[in-house]
Amino acid sequence: MSRPLLFAANWKMHLGPGEARTFLDRFLAIDTPRHGRTVMFFPPAVSLEATAERLRGHEHDLVGVQDVYWEAKGAFTGATSVALARGAGASAALVGHSERRHVFGETDTETNRKVRAVLDGGLQAMLCVGEQLAERERGETEATVTRQLRTGLANVTAGADLVIAYEPVWAIGTGRTATPSDAVVVHTAIRMVLVDLGFARDTRVLYGGSVNVGNVAQLVAEPEVDGVLVGGASLDPDGWARICAVGP
Ligand code: PGA
Repeated sequence: MSRPLLFAANWKMHLGPGEARTFLDRFLAIDTPRHGRTVMFFPPAVSLEATAERLRGHEHDLVGVQDVYWEAKGAFTGATSVALARGAGASAALVGHSERRHVFGETDTETNRKVRAVLDGGLQAMLCVGEQLAERERGETEATVTRQLRTGLANVTAGADLVIAYEPVWAIGTGRTATPSDAVVVHTAIRMVLVDLGFARDTRVLYGGSVNVGNVAQLVAEPEVDGVLVGGASLDPDGWARICAVGP
């Protein structure tokens, strides 16, 4: 089944509001929208509003928040609720990104609370999963990803607005990418879990981890790869426009 491609830019802790506007001015000037393609930007929370405003009227260019806290409001210094992100223009949220898991110590259970809060709050959830190098070397890639999915999606209804991003931790920001055939093996396993949990066949599974202009075409040529989640290579508007131009 071919699903429309989704190109997601994870800006991480880069590009404040002014820089985001400058980036988007350039990107929108050179990007040619393609039929069925969606581009999604995950700026830092302080740049959500500027990003959303600059993209107004571009219906296939969407904005998401990089992380949320599951509580609706209250004394949670530094946290962003789903409603705050939505009010600032987000239509999606990353959940369980590897840096949240491995730098900030987020557990599968916390990830699940966030997924449910995101969906209950009316945003699309982009749940990130992926194994660490030691897990891959022990042959535990599928078991790790399956556990992250089953726990992360516990008590989530099958009709939920969900995207999965497979990002092997050893490939993020390292210049090492999974080969397309490695990615396909894991994407196929992810698809089997999603089907088992009752999720729709049109749920997209993205690949992430050192994706760049040179390797994106090979990755999205695989029918199991429904798009990409890109960090470093999404910070240059010209390069990002070239990445988003790939596809059928
Ligand atoms: P990278 O990051 O493209 O810089 O490897 C991807 C991500 O962390 O989402």
